[in-house]
Amino acid sequence: MKIFIDTANIDEIKEAIKIGIIDGVTTNPTLISKEERPAEDLLKEICSLVSGPVSAEVIGLDCQTMVKEAKILSKIAKNIVIKIPLVKEGLKAVKILSSEGIKTNVTLCFSPNQALLAAKVGADYISPFIGRLDDIGQEGMELVRQIKTIYSNYGFKTQIIVASVRNPLHVLEAARIGADIATVPFAVIEQLLKHPLTDIGIQRFLEDWKKVPKR
Ligand code: G3P
Repeated sequence: MKIFIDTANIDEIKEAIKIGIIDGVTTNPTLISKEERPAEDLLKEICSLVSGPVSAEVIGLDCQTMVKEAKILSKIAKNIVIKIPLVKEGLKAVKILSSEGIKTNVTLCFSPNQALLAAKVGADYISPFIGRLDDIGQEGMELVRQIKTIYSNYGFKTQIIVASVRNPLHVLEAARIGADIATVPFAVIEQLLKHPLTDIGIQRFLEDWKKVPKR
């Protein structure tokens, strides 16, 4: 499974790259707003750090505006992927963009039927929002299972990005289901690699090493 980092924070992206486990980046307007920098500058810098896909979201709500914004965003760098919300106008925009070879990530997906439609219009990626479904008492990962089944039933090439990841269990389940990608906040990446028994083990080895006679 590929791991994307779900952030627009440069320090977090740099640190995750150093660990060596990052295949791409996803941003959204909320994440970009936290950085207090012009979006275009920020996205340009992110794209210079990462060779994999970097998702940048449109703000417009009608097809024409979305396509116009997508074309501006896609000029920032070759690896920009346009994030489009899963609404009727968004699907129209994805159809146009995919016919022009501009990569899209259809976002704010909360149902398997929405995901089916996104695949039919040629979305490169679909982003089911797992944590936000859990928040309202629906099992988010069940949506990923259903999308996976539908996409494999018909051989759709749209890749599933498990998004709105809040904890390590979401990542584990995404990998067990066989999702293509999980986009993970930096704090959860740190949780994934930490284990108390690893820390205790290192401590014990270091203490025992002191007992080894020195020449
Ligand atoms: O990639 C979408 C994701 O950032 C949304 O996460 O935690 O705001 O639901 P969250």
